[in-house]
Amino acid sequence: MTRARRKKVKFNTIRLKGGIKSALKKKSRSILEGLAQSKSALKKKSRSILEGLAQSKSALKKKSRSILEGLAQSKSALKKVYTETYMVACDSATVNKEHEVWQAETAHLQDTSGASIIKCQDIFKHDEEEEPIRCVVTKGVAGIGKTVAVQKFILDWANGIENQNLDLLILLSLRDLNLIKHRQCSLHGLLQGLYPELKDIDIKMYFDHKILFIIDGLDEIQLPLEFQKNIPISDVSESATLDGILTNLITGRLLPNALLWITSRPVAANRIPPESRDRVTEIRGFGDSQKDVYFIKGNQ
Ligand SMILES: Nc1ncnc2c1ncn2[C@@H]1O[C@H](COP(=O)(O)OP(=O)(O)OP(=O)(O)O)[C@@H](O)[C@H]1O
Ligand SMILES: [Mg+2]
Repeated sequence: MTRARRKKVKFNTIRLKGGIKSALKKKSRSILEGLAQSKSALKKKSRSILEGLAQSKSALKKKSRSILEGLAQSKSALKKVYTETYMVACDSATVNKEHEVWQAETAHLQDTSGASIIKCQDIFKHDEEEEPIRCVVTKGVAGIGKTVAVQKFILDWANGIENQNLDLLILLSLRDLNLIKHRQCSLHGLLQGLYPELKDIDIKMYFDHKILFIIDGLDEIQLPLEFQKNIPISDVSESATLDGILTNLITGRLLPNALLWITSRPVAANRIPPESRDRVTEIRGFGDSQKDVYFIKGNQ
């Protein structure tokens, strides 16, 4: 090879190397830019999830702060009137066949001395050696204080006092769902419709955060609860009947990692399959000393 040719080859090699280098530089720059973009998109997404969680917490707090009392249905601050009720742990397989009116009249006479008393804020607590509790069913006759217990639980959580391991509480008051019980929708769609603050929340949220669904008043909706017949669904965006969504949520096919607290009058509570009830509790009303506290608070 002549000297001039050698020089040309050397020149071309250097040029090629330079080209590769700059192409690599360009590529890694675009990869870095892509990474930065997806990082900022993720940041934006998680910021919107956190904002949604905070908004939902403050909306729930506002809703649970007051209760309607007496025949006049006047509003009172929960903080002011709340009095601890007797809630006892029951055998989760127990089927209560007594008529509810009879139970209502005798609830205060039941012997609670042998029963283990549980506070509403402790219903998901368990001993270390016990299996975690996914679904708690709380039964109680009409007007005994199930909804008030739910409000107390929510308020203590929203005020940062109790159950701080939970990121989000979703309240499904079944009385309010009667109007839409014939509509087909997904769980995600249903929640977006019920709670504007969850409108922009990504589906990932259901898996990355600890959620408790509170189904208040299972007896207050006229649904067949066809646990056996409903199509199994495990996707929060899959459309189904409200009956299908509720039964799949209760059995844990839908969001198995979410916790569930169902309140109901006794007969409807027994429609929940025993294998889905990890803990059953019953609200038995006020004991004598609690009645005194209640009346003193009422007269203040
Ligand atoms: N722990 C409590 N402290 C003070 N007042 C209470 C308490 N529990 C219930 N009450 C009073 O009783 C009323 C009825 O209670 P609540 O609505 O919780 O009953 P419920 O068990 O949910 O009844 P239903 O089965 O009809 O839904 C409340 O509006 C409130 O006035
Ligand atoms: Mg109620």
